[in-house]
Amino acid sequence: MTLWGGRFKGELDRQAWALNASLSFDQRLAQQDVRGSLAWARALQQARVLSAEECSQICTGLEAVAQEFRQGIFVFQPADEDIHTAVERRLGELIGPAAGKLHTGRSRNDQVATDFRLWLLDAVPGVQAALADLQGALLERAEQDFGMVMPGYTHLQRAQPILLSHWWLAHFWALQRDRDRLGELADRAATLPLGSGALAGAPFAVDRQVLAQELGFARISPNSLDAVADRDFAAEFLFFAALHGVHLSRLAEGVVLFSTAEFGFIELSDAYSTGSSLMPQKKNPDVFELARGKAGTLVGLLTGLLATLKGLPSAYDKDLQEDKQPVFAAHDTLLALLPVLGGALRSLAVRPDRMSAGLDAAMLATDLADYLVRAGVPFRHSHQVAGQAVRLAAEKQQPLDALSLDEFRSLHPAFGPDVYQVFDPQHSAARRDVPGGTAPEAVRAQIVQAKTALG
Ligand code: ARG
Repeated sequence: MTLWGGRFKGELDRQAWALNASLSFDQRLAQQDVRGSLAWARALQQARVLSAEECSQICTGLEAVAQEFRQGIFVFQPADEDIHTAVERRLGELIGPAAGKLHTGRSRNDQVATDFRLWLLDAVPGVQAALADLQGALLERAEQDFGMVMPGYTHLQRAQPILLSHWWLAHFWALQRDRDRLGELADRAATLPLGSGALAGAPFAVDRQVLAQELGFARISPNSLDAVADRDFAAEFLFFAALHGVHLSRLAEGVVLFSTAEFGFIELSDAYSTGSSLMPQKKNPDVFELARGKAGTLVGLLTGLLATLKGLPSAYDKDLQEDKQPVFAAHDTLLALLPVLGGALRSLAVRPDRMSAGLDAAMLATDLADYLVRAGVPFRHSHQVAGQAVRLAAEKQQPLDALSLDEFRSLHPAFGPDVYQVFDPQHSAARRDVPGGTAPEAVRAQIVQAKTALG
């Protein structure tokens, strides 16, 4: 019943069989397995291992198998150890003994490595699209909320006024790097292992370049031992997912924080909030908390696979069967999360009054120092003076802009009546007009740049 029964007299223990079997999860590779087999059958015919008649029988049979999978009518049998076994078993039922020639020169080792890469390459566009849509939501927010000024924080302490659009776009660019990374890892994943056999290479003259072309790979692997063991593509995808998760988590934490009563900059829509079974007043940002939480799970999936790969001797080891579930899980997690975050961002309400209320005059202390710089005072000194002004105002329990001109002058003679113009947050933001700065002009340019990046 197994693909490897010949040398065995006894049967595999029932529980050992269950442990060994991977069908429950690798059936997701069904279409890729059939595609790989179709290409392999044609390569065998070109290598004169299969006659034209046998090849056409096998291909017709494989098409029928693929059709059964597509229609959801493929019936797995209890003896199907993995997807490769199931496809070959069904092919045999459909076309008879010719099916037994398909596996010539091939091993499940190069087969599964090929199937899994094909699966990833098929999956990447869907993830890219979901990611791009979330970037689109951030960009829409940046445009919609353009001009609103909020407190910017470092160390979570009030720092300098920034545009809310600038804050949204900060997260846009992190996601842009994620999407770039995904494209780059997909390019590297497009290396064909098929033709590597179990470990030493196929003993028939299959044309691997043609195989690569037919299956949409950019190149063939240069070493059969490496080819059957290389799971860099899976680890890279998991790193992408983990870092992307970290980026989503940081965005989520910002939203969670800003939607508290204490900040109140943001109110989530009902469609993306949940309540408490006990406290009637609660409106909880579960969606963003889940984004934050799932980042931890994604990091775990990456470290899990890296630990599996570490210390494997060269060529295939059964440990490698552990590679698929984390990749599927990371993929499914992202596809579940991304559209919900996009919807939640698009539907939330911003409270400009609450953001303005968070802007106190002390946040313009840097601008006060810069005022003196423009009068020729060295920044090191003007920083000192502005600090003294902050201390004086704090001692008087007054806002910084409530100090009198005499008081400012007592700290430095270069202060003039126009010092009070410093205390305009809009003005402060507008001064920061370097490319990448928070000035409206610079942010407008950034929006154009983001649109181009989004394509
Ligand atoms: N189910 C196996 C996996 O996922 C397929 C390869 C099995 N190869 C072997 N030599 N037993 O890795």
